[in-house]
Amino acid sequence: MAQVFTTASACSASNVLSVAGGQRLSASETHKSGAHLRASSSEIWRKCSLFVASGVTSGVKTSGRSAATRFPTATAVKDSPTRPTSLVGESNVSEKKKVMILGGDGYCGWATALHLSKKGHDVAIVDSLVRRLFDEQLGTQTLTPIASLQKRVKRWKDLSGETLDVYIGDICNYEFLEHAVKSFEPDAIVHFGEQRSAPYSMMDRDRAVFTQHNNVIGTLNVLFAIKELVPECHLVKLGTMGEYGTPNIDIEEGFITITHNGRTDTLPYPKQASSFYHLSKVHDSHNLAFACKAWGLAATDLNQGVVYGVHTPETFMDEVLINRLDYDGVFGTALNRFCVQAAVGHPLTVYGKGGQTRGYLDIRDTVRCLELAIINPAKAGEFRVFNQFTEQFSVNDLASLVTKAGRKLGIEVQTAHVENPRVEAEEHYYNAKHSKLVELGLEPHLLSDALLDSLLNVAVNYAERVDYEQILPAVSWKKIGSKPKTVKPSGL
Ligand SMILES: NC(=O)c1ccc[n+]([C@@H]2O[C@H](COP(=O)([O-])OP(=O)(O)OC[C@H]3O[C@@H](n4cnc5c(N)ncnc54)[C@H](O)[C@@H]3O)[C@@H](O)[C@H]2O)c1
Repeated sequence: MAQVFTTASACSASNVLSVAGGQRLSASETHKSGAHLRASSSEIWRKCSLFVASGVTSGVKTSGRSAATRFPTATAVKDSPTRPTSLVGESNVSEKKKVMILGGDGYCGWATALHLSKKGHDVAIVDSLVRRLFDEQLGTQTLTPIASLQKRVKRWKDLSGETLDVYIGDICNYEFLEHAVKSFEPDAIVHFGEQRSAPYSMMDRDRAVFTQHNNVIGTLNVLFAIKELVPECHLVKLGTMGEYGTPNIDIEEGFITITHNGRTDTLPYPKQASSFYHLSKVHDSHNLAFACKAWGLAATDLNQGVVYGVHTPETFMDEVLINRLDYDGVFGTALNRFCVQAAVGHPLTVYGKGGQTRGYLDIRDTVRCLELAIINPAKAGEFRVFNQFTEQFSVNDLASLVTKAGRKLGIEVQTAHVENPRVEAEEHYYNAKHSKLVELGLEPHLLSDALLDSLLNVAVNYAERVDYEQILPAVSWKKIGSKPKTVKPSGL
């Protein structure tokens, strides 16, 4: 039976980093990467006074951990294409757009940047690199060893011939954002650039405040930048299915028609967010809707489900391009986390009864959904909402799928029902509509045995990087600041 014990806080004092000052790229690094830098003022990291980044001298603070030592081979990863060696000349876009990707160094953003670049669009990445700093702060790391943004961008240029412009800075700093938008003049802005972990936002007051400030003010700045500088630009903003909660009726795509006391209207679908992170997204949605109405902006709010998978054809090309894979109790999401747990013989940690049902999608569909939203833009003054997921699963469904896939690979997978750290229904009705992206042409990659094999294979390949102490839920919704626990598998 799994042993449960308490370990040090996920954010113990020794793990806490802080920022000594502003972030700067040296002239040579700026030149080499083609990076633009405006945000050198200490204000960039004003909100991150929680962190100390000792020795931060370049735009990218690498963790100092060893670089990639192993990379899954094409034969080990069954659901991935044979790794191509070059994509030069593969652009096939009919209408080339200038797309600025906020949060382009993150999990969804990096894969999307490469996909759109390969399709022939001009792509710029804007990122404060704060996600890498969260890892330093919490003492966690992605299972897959990711390269610095500069190295990623350079390797992409070598392989594809395409240049990705890079702007390192915080979108909460309006001066920085204004500079980036003025200089790139985007046709579309894709906004992934937020703090995206619900547990992180529930850790303590500072992180709740950081999350809402970072997300709500960042988005507000983006809306003002579009209005002031590029009013025709289409904003494609990542929201989450978690904004809706789990109502006992079907979830519509953004709006619901209600008849009340004999009168009928179509209104925004009610939101019942379940963390300070999800609440930041709800506020973003309201700000977007209002800006479209008041200023005539064009925006698409993508209520995304939980994303799984690690490879897209582009990130699979080279180990320097590999995407991040989070499995820890703060940033790890269901399914990715289960695959890593299974790969290292850790019991799958089902929270509570496991009946929690949500929408899920493959990272390869995330990048395609973004492309579809960009090439079919919202009209001026229109606020569109798409539910961006392809299938619904309960946590128990995922656990049995991973158990079955593990068995096929000779891995004996166990499941442990752990105390649910969240405040949420564990058994409930869930039926969410998701037809608008399919109508635009999305052909979903449904969760298959092959994909699970592939994910398990990636996890097995990097198993030695797993830190068992980071696996169990580290944050309780009710007991803010409580110590995390971990499950120690027998034999360790
Ligand atoms: N991953 C999922 O399963 C999932 C599900 C639903 C919705 N989403 C949404 O999609 C978006 C991307 O998620 P992800 O998993 O790629 O997250 P991520 O943390 O991997 O990436 C977010 C990126 O944004 C950057 N960033 C954060 N705040 C910034 C700021 N103020 N200025 C500039 N850059 C900033 C981070 O450094 C990071 O690189 C988020 O908005 C998230 O809420 C993700």
